[in-house]
Amino acid sequence: MGRERIKFDLLIHDLKVPLAVMEAGITSLLNRREKYGDITGQQEKVLKRVLRNNKVLKTLVNDALELGKSRQGIVNFSNLRLSSLIEEALVEIFDLTHCNTSEEIRHCLELKALKKILEGKGVLLVIDKGLWGQEVCLDAAKVRQVLRNLLNNALKYRKERVELSVDKRDGYLIFSVKDDGEGIPSTYHEKIFECYFQMDATENGCVRGHGLGLAGVMVLIEDMGGRLFLESGEGKGAKFLVEVPLRANGH
Ligand SMILES: Nc1ncnc2c1ncn2[C@@H]1O[C@H](COP(=O)(O)OP(=O)(O)OP(=O)(O)O)[C@@H](O)[C@H]1O
Ligand SMILES: [Mg+2]
Repeated sequence: MGRERIKFDLLIHDLKVPLAVMEAGITSLLNRREKYGDITGQQEKVLKRVLRNNKVLKTLVNDALELGKSRQGIVNFSNLRLSSLIEEALVEIFDLTHCNTSEEIRHCLELKALKKILEGKGVLLVIDKGLWGQEVCLDAAKVRQVLRNLLNNALKYRKERVELSVDKRDGYLIFSVKDDGEGIPSTYHEKIFECYFQMDATENGCVRGHGLGLAGVMVLIEDMGGRLFLESGEGKGAKFLVEVPLRANGH
């Protein structure tokens, strides 16, 4: 499968998250009135219609994933604070599973407070305070997509804890996403980056996800001129380390 096709598929694949958030929100309004308040019969009809159409869209996204398309790859540089980049990726992730947490992250003003919120969810954020406020020049959309996919996997496969570490060295942004889950045996270290490959796909027949995330992550990192390293062994958790070259600010 060509690189452009993989990137397009990843984009379609990532539509699943906002769609799931919408579905969860509407379902809550319909089913948890003790929490969200009463709705009229007319409002209920409208919400049910939106929910139905949301499901239609979900099916279309899944269909599009099967078909795939090609797209031209371009690296878009911009200057932005590391704090915004990381916070945005975290908000997108928690929107799906813990929307109260994502609200807290959105309104959080200090690194220390953010670390505390995340710790409550078993996520350890390791970053220097000076670096947190620094501006960097990179392709934010691509880096966010990489971060989101690695974090989603780590949260999915962890036992209890996930660690996100961010550093900057010799013109590179270096970040790692580590979990304490079952890990990945070395025989699979290349295979998991292939499209539609999932280690547990054959065991239970019903799989979560599409086995596309890591294939897309690899293409995005290569496009940025970066590198990815995997450290993992059976029963030892997994650590994905990413290096992305930075541009000098303002260029
Ligand atoms: N942190 C991890 N710990 C253990 N196994 C992992 C981890 N990350 C990925 N894998 C293995 O690699 C496979 C491929 O990962 P990938 O992100 O490409 O797909 P997915 O998460 O299964 O689905 P998708 O990302 O499309 O929703 C996973 O199915 C899993 O078997
Ligand atoms: Mg994944």
